[in-house]
Amino acid sequence: MSRLDSFIRRLEAQRSVLDWAAAQTVGRDGLVLELGLGNGRTYDHLRERLPGRAIHVFERDPKAHPQSMPPARLLVIGDMAETLPAFAAQHGASAVLIHVDVTTGVPERDAVALSWLPAEVAALAAPTALVVSGCALDHPALRPEPLPDDVPEGRYFAYRRMGAGERSETGEIV
Ligand SMILES: C[S@@+](CC[C@H](N)C(=O)[O-])C[C@H]1O[C@@H](n2cnc3c(N)ncnc32)[C@H](O)[C@@H]1O
Repeated sequence: MSRLDSFIRRLEAQRSVLDWAAAQTVGRDGLVLELGLGNGRTYDHLRERLPGRAIHVFERDPKAHPQSMPPARLLVIGDMAETLPAFAAQHGASAVLIHVDVTTGVPERDAVALSWLPAEVAALAAPTALVVSGCALDHPALRPEPLPDDVPEGRYFAYRRMGAGERSETGEIV
């Protein structure tokens, strides 16, 4: 498969997952978090699918398309390794939807560079929150969730945050 085909498939999977995740978030109270603003495409898509909803966006170097720039009060600038714990200290596990799009496209590199990420995401997610991610997030409190049928295996990942006191597959109480 050419890199162009692969890129197009990734975007199609991303749109399908975001539509699916947003539909499940309508009517649920809680924060919506976008990790990785980039060009702002997925942020723009989420805010269109969740009109009127405040979406907090995390980015170390905000350079989005001007039409996709979040309002300053919802943009958390800095390295997420530092801004996510600070946000969790302030807001607790209050997110009902977290979209993680920080991947570099090289899973081996992401696994090392972002080793801290799954724990920070788990700390921000409310019980039964949905987490959708471009990279795998390995954490006992994040239970893999089946994706929509049109999303090829391994293209995107979804997790359900387990509730307090539930036992993970490895037997840990989370
Ligand atoms: C793949 S891009 C996001 C694409 C975006 N969702 C879109 O649709 O345009 C990943 C973004 O995550 C940001 N990023 C990666 N690691 C980060 C970190 N540790 N802290 C803050 N931002 C980070 C990068 O600067 C980049 O803008």
